[in-house]
Amino acid sequence: MVRPYGVKGRKLKKRKVEEPAPVEEEEEEVLSDEGEGVGVEEETGNGGEIAETEDEKRAEEAVNEMPGIPITAPVDKTKRPGVVFVLEKACLEVGKVGKNFQILNSDDHANYLKKQNRNPADYRPDIIHQALLAIFDSPLAKAGRLQAVYVKTEKGVLFEIKPYVRIPRTFKRFCGLMSQLLQKLSITAVGKREKLLNVIKNPVTRHLPVNSRKIGLSYSSEKLANLCNYVAAASDDATLVFVVGAMAHGVIDKEYIDDFISISEYPLSAACCLNRICSAFEQKWRIT
Ligand SMILES: C[S@@+](CC[C@H](N)C(=O)[O-])C[C@H]1O[C@@H](n2cnc3c(N)ncnc32)[C@H](O)[C@@H]1O
Repeated sequence: MVRPYGVKGRKLKKRKVEEPAPVEEEEEEVLSDEGEGVGVEEETGNGGEIAETEDEKRAEEAVNEMPGIPITAPVDKTKRPGVVFVLEKACLEVGKVGKNFQILNSDDHANYLKKQNRNPADYRPDIIHQALLAIFDSPLAKAGRLQAVYVKTEKGVLFEIKPYVRIPRTFKRFCGLMSQLLQKLSITAVGKREKLLNVIKNPVTRHLPVNSRKIGLSYSSEKLANLCNYVAAASDDATLVFVVGAMAHGVIDKEYIDDFISISEYPLSAACCLNRICSAFEQKWRIT
C-alpha cells in the first residue's frame, strides 16, 4: 500500500531553517509522557541508528494515522468567504538531543535546556499544538471555510498548513511532524505535487489576500470587543485575518495589524481564543 504522505526535502546538513542547539549528549534520565522513567539511550538517541530514525517514524506514523488523508474537509469551490489564521511566536525549535533532532519542550528536555542556560518554561510547543487542534477540529474547518493557516515560529520561520490537513492528535506525533517540517522544509502528499505543510518566505503579509483585514488579539489591548458582534458586523467583502499568539508570554507583532482587540476581561489561552473566533464565524455563517 502506498503511504498517503511523504516527507520531502533536502537533508538538514545541506539546508536548515532553524539553527539546532549545539550538540550535547543528554545524560540525565527523562520522563516519557506516560510518566515512566526512560533510560537515556532510548529517549536521547545514544542507542544510535534506531533512535535516530525515531522522529521520521513519528512523522510517518502521524501522516499514516488515517488512511485516505490528507483531505479532511470539503474543498470549498464555491468561493464562499473564509477565514485566515496567523499564529505568531509559536515555540517550535529543533534541538539536537543526543543524536536526535527533536522539538524542544519543557517537560522532556528540561535538563538539556538548563545546561544551555535556557529557561525550560519558554519551550512550550504544546501551545501551538492545542491551537491548531482548536482550528482544525472546528465545524468551521469541517465546513471548508478555512481559507489559510500560517504559523510563524519564535525564531521567525513562517510556514503554511493547508486547510484540509489532519493535524496529528498526539503531542509526540505532532512534534515528530514539526521536526520533519522544520528540517526538510515541506511535507508533500505522496504521488502528488501539493505541499501540505510548507515553509514559505516572510513576511506573512505577502501571502495574505489583497483585500484583507488583519485583526490582532491581545489581552493587553484596551479595545474590548464582543467577538460575535464584531464578526457579525464585519463585511464578507474583505477577508478577515485573525492573528493570535501561540506563546506563553509576550505580545504579537502589531506592525501589520489593522485592528488590535481584546476579546475577554481575562487572559485566555490561544486555543480558547481560537475556539471563540471559530464559534463566532459558525454563528454568522450558520454552521452547526
Ligand atoms: C497565553 S496568551 C499570551 C499572553 C499575552 N500577554 C497577550 O497578549 O494576551 C496567547 C495569545 O492568546 C491571545 N489572548 C489571550 N487572552 C486574550 C484576551 N483576553 N483577548 C484577546 N486575545 C487574547 C493573544 O493573541 C495572545 O497572544
